Amino acid sequence: MTIIRPAKVTDIKGIHEIIEYYASNKKMLHKSLNTLYEDIQEFVVLENNNKVIACGALHVSWEDLAEIKSLAVLDEYQRQGLGRKIVSNLQKNAKKLGINKVFVLSFNPEFFVKLGYKKIQKDNLPHKIWRECVDCHLFPGCGEIALTFDL
Ligand SMILES: CC(C)(COP(=O)(O)OP(=O)(O)OC[C@H]1O[C@@H](n2cnc3c(N)ncnc32)[C@H](O)[C@@H]1OP(=O)(O)O)[C@@H](O)C(=O)NCCC(=O)NCCS
Repeated sequence: MTIIRPAKVTDIKGIHEIIEYYASNKKMLHKSLNTLYEDIQEFVVLENNNKVIACGALHVSWEDLAEIKSLAVLDEYQRQGLGRKIVSNLQKNAKKLGINKVFVLSFNPEFFVKLGYKKIQKDNLPHKIWRECVDCHLFPGCGEIALTFDL
């Protein structure tokens, strides 16, 4: 049975493995174990038979904006609606916090377009979000596409 729930510290190694798999294929950005432990409260996971098979995170950027981050579903579980399930759960969490808009920076914009997200110019996002970008080794030409969704 597959369940969606907030991440626990015991999930972090599984989350790290999934993200590193896609990061090594240039589909996501790398995340250190240290960052994942520090950001654990932002993460939800999908668990199947005690194994983390998908993850995603919600990072509050400002009073009216949050970012969907680190979304990934293990290869063998893709195209079964799990990515959509995680995004929907993170959107609900944003709504509960009183946030009406989410955004994502993704190398895979077509998935988010399918979910109703709209492509925008990255320059339209608040300056604050660039803090993480400027520290990234791919800055300034990473090629991630910005998309937003009104909740
Ligand atoms: C992107 C990703 C999370 C999608 O997860 P998934 O579980 O396969 O997606 P779902 O099954 O929930 O798909 C939901 C819808 O999006 C569509 N979709 C899924 N992947 C797609 C893609 N790459 N391009 C276009 N549409 C896509 C599905 O067909 C489905 O549409 P439908 O409801 O009309 O059938 C997954 O492919 C993944 O982990 N990719 C590698 C990491 C990555 O790119 N993360 C993106 C954020 S940085």
